[in-house]
This record gives sequence, C-alpha cells and structure tokens, in this order.
Amino acid sequence: MERETRTRKKRLLALVVLIAVMAWTAGCSAGQSIGLSALVEAEDITSEGSTAVYVPESGSDRQEVVIKPADDSVERVSEEVTVIETPKLGGAVEQSEETAGEQKLAALTFDDGPDAKYTTAILDILKEKGVKATFFVVGTQVEKYPDVMKRIEEEGHAIGNHTQGHENLRELGRTGILQQITEADEAIEQAVGDAPSLFRAPYGAISDTLLDVLEENERRLVGWTVDTRDWAGTSIADMREMIRTKTEANGIILMHSFGGKHIRNTVEMLPGVIDDLQELGFTLVTVDQIEE
Ligand code: NI
Repeated sequence: MERETRTRKKRLLALVVLIAVMAWTAGCSAGQSIGLSALVEAEDITSEGSTAVYVPESGSDRQEVVIKPADDSVERVSEEVTVIETPKLGGAVEQSEETAGEQKLAALTFDDGPDAKYTTAILDILKEKGVKATFFVVGTQVEKYPDVMKRIEEEGHAIGNHTQGHENLRELGRTGILQQITEADEAIEQAVGDAPSLFRAPYGAISDTLLDVLEENERRLVGWTVDTRDWAGTSIADMREMIRTKTEANGIILMHSFGGKHIRNTVEMLPGVIDDLQELGFTLVTVDQIEE
C-alpha cells in the first residue's frame, strides 16, 4: 500500500512538473528569451516588430532564440537559415556552365597621357584591382614621361597610338597624318621597345585619307561605345550611372588620364566603376581582346 501511494505521489509530482514546464514554455513564447529543444522556425517565434536571431549550440539540437529590435540587421547563423550574399561575378569567381564561354567583355581606355599625376594614380588603382586597361598615348607626353610609359607597358596594359601632338587629323593631308602617327610610334618605341598596332583618332575625327593610311599600315582604328566626357567636368555620379547603364558586351569606355583638373574625377570614380562593371558580370580586358 505504502509503496503504491509513493508511486502515485511520484506520478502526481511528475505530472505537476510537466504541467509547470508546459505553462512556462507557453508563457515564454511571447517573452524575451527562451531555450527550446525543438527546432523553431524564425517566423514562428518572431513577435511583432522584432527579428529573430538563431545561435545554434554546438553538439546539440538546442537553439537559443533571441528577439532583437526590428531595426537591427538580421543576422542568421544556422544550418537551416543561410546568409544570402550578393554574388560577385567577374574574373575571380567561377562561372556556371551555362554562362561559361559567353563572357561579357568590356574595356577601360584612357587617352591623352601619360603624365606623372593622373596616369600614375590610375595605374595604382588598376594594379590594386588587378585590372588591365588600354592607354592611347600622345607622343609629346610620352617624350616627357618615358618612365610612366614604361610602367604602363610593364604592368601589362595595352598601348595605342593617339598621334604625336593630338591633332585633328581631318584637317591634315596624307603627309601630315603619316607624320603624326610615325612620330608618336617613334616616341613609344623609344620608351617601351615596340610601336603599337592600336590607333585612336583625337576627337574621333576621321577622314577617308586617315582610314587609307591606317589600312596601309595595318593599324586598328579604335573608337568607343561609352563616352564619359570626363574631361568636361561631368560629375562622378553621372559618369558612373552612364557607365552602368550604357556598357554592353564588348563595350569600350572612353576616359582620360591627362587633360586638365577634371581628370581627378576619373581617378576618384575608377575603383567604383570597376566594381560596378564586375558586379554587372563584365570581365575587364584590353581593347585588343575585344572583337572589331
Ligand atoms: Ni584625345
């Protein structure tokens, strides 16, 4: 009899404890901090105006759920809830099989240098970002800054001829055009050992005579698809927006590395421009890697 009573008492006590635990758990559902042995979905324990944060305990299925104010950023650490990261597309990230083989290319180009101020700053940024660009250089500048010219070449960038004196070639005859190209070739060759095969006309001014001369000399005439008008003092915000929205596959972006105080905007925006284009999935290459 006594044993039976004791057993009954124990069962009663166990029942009371169970009820107490259940009541406590229910009460805590709306509370600030609880321990749950079962996995609880974030939505289930999120009260109004609050955000749930999981902190799983290692070696057990227990999860501590902390309710944080809604204005705190959501931080989720658990196998069930993964942190969503913005995919970084571009050179460093492996491409999926679907997109492999159809890389979106774009080329950054810088005209009118070299100089010892903006060109060198641009080279520093390109080096840090691991990006190669194309420099269309002017012969007179190359003669003034042969070391910077050399650096452009040594750091793996492409070089293009942009005439000796930045002349409007539409106003020159065959002899004048040839002279502008040849003198710039010689200045570049003296600095880096080779004359370039790429050519860009100052002001984009083209004539039939120029096209004939370029063809005879096996030069590739390079234009652009996005003109930042950086030399004219266009704002950084406008230029970045223009580049983001107007760059298409095989796009060529025109900027400058010399030509007045506004080029400091070019330097300032360059890291952001590179980030923007890479986030849009572009691989930045030199102009020679882009189809004509
Ligand atoms: Ni120019």
